[in-house]
Amino acid sequence: MLLQLKNISKGYGEQGSHNFRPVLENLNLEIQKGEKLSIVGQSGSGKTTLLNLIGTLDSPDFGEVFFDGKNLTGYSKKELADFRNQHLGFVFQLHHLMPQLSLLENVLLPVLPQGKVSKEQKEWAENLIKRVGIWDQRHQKPSEMSGGECQRTAVVRALINKPELILADEPTGALDEKNATALSELLIQLSEEENLTLITVTHSSELANQMDKRYTLRNGKLE
Ligand SMILES: Nc1ncnc2c1ncn2[C@@H]1O[C@H](COP(=O)(O)OP(=O)(O)O)[C@@H](O)[C@H]1O
Ligand SMILES: [Mg+2]
Repeated sequence: MLLQLKNISKGYGEQGSHNFRPVLENLNLEIQKGEKLSIVGQSGSGKTTLLNLIGTLDSPDFGEVFFDGKNLTGYSKKELADFRNQHLGFVFQLHHLMPQLSLLENVLLPVLPQGKVSKEQKEWAENLIKRVGIWDQRHQKPSEMSGGECQRTAVVRALINKPELILADEPTGALDEKNATALSELLIQLSEEENLTLITVTHSSELANQMDKRYTLRNGKLE
C-alpha cells in the first residue's frame, strides 16, 4: 500500500464555535502503488481540502496519513517539505508557472534547490518535453503559450523529480474539450509508463472513467 488515510477529520474555523465548518469527517482511504483514481464531488464538497491533506500542504484535525507505511503526522515543516519534494508531484487547475521564466526553466525549477541541474535531470526534462509535444516552445514564456501548452508544462514540472505519487486538482478544468482530452490522455499514459500512482480531482467523467477507481466525496466521506 502506498497511501493510507485513517479516520481523517478536517474543518475550518474554530473547533466547537458556531462558525466551525466540518469538511471531512472520519474519512478513510487506501491506495495501492500504481493505482489511478479519481475523486469527483460537488463544488465545496472538500476535494481540494482532501488533496491538500494527502499532499501534506495542510494537516488534519484528527486522524493520520501514512505514506509507504510511514506516519507523516509528526513530521516537522522541513521534513514535510523534503518529503513532498522527493515523493510528490502536483498539478493544479491553473498551471502556476513563473511568468518571467521560459518553459524549460519552469520545468527545471523544482530541481534547482538541489544545486546544479545534473546531466541526467536535464535529459529527463528534455525527454519529457519532447514526449508531451512542447519542444518547439521550450524557450517561450507562459504568456507566449496556449493554455494547453502551459498545463502540459505543469505536468512535466510535476514529474521532474520522478515522484511516486501525482496529485492533480482539476488539471483540465481551465481547458477546452480538445485540450482537456489530450491532457487527460497524457496524464494517464505517463502514469502507466512510469508506474506512478495518480490521484486526480476532476469534473470530467471522461477522465474519471479512465481511472482504476472512482470515488465521490459526499458529506465528508468518500463513497
Ligand atoms: N482556507 C479555508 N478557510 C475556510 N474555509 C475554507 C478554506 N478552504 C476551503 N474552505 C471551505 O471548505 C469547503 C470545502 O472547500 P474545498 O476543499 O475547496 O472544496 P472543493 O475543492 O470540493 O470545491 C468549502 O465550503 C470552502 O468554502
Ligand atoms: Mg477544489
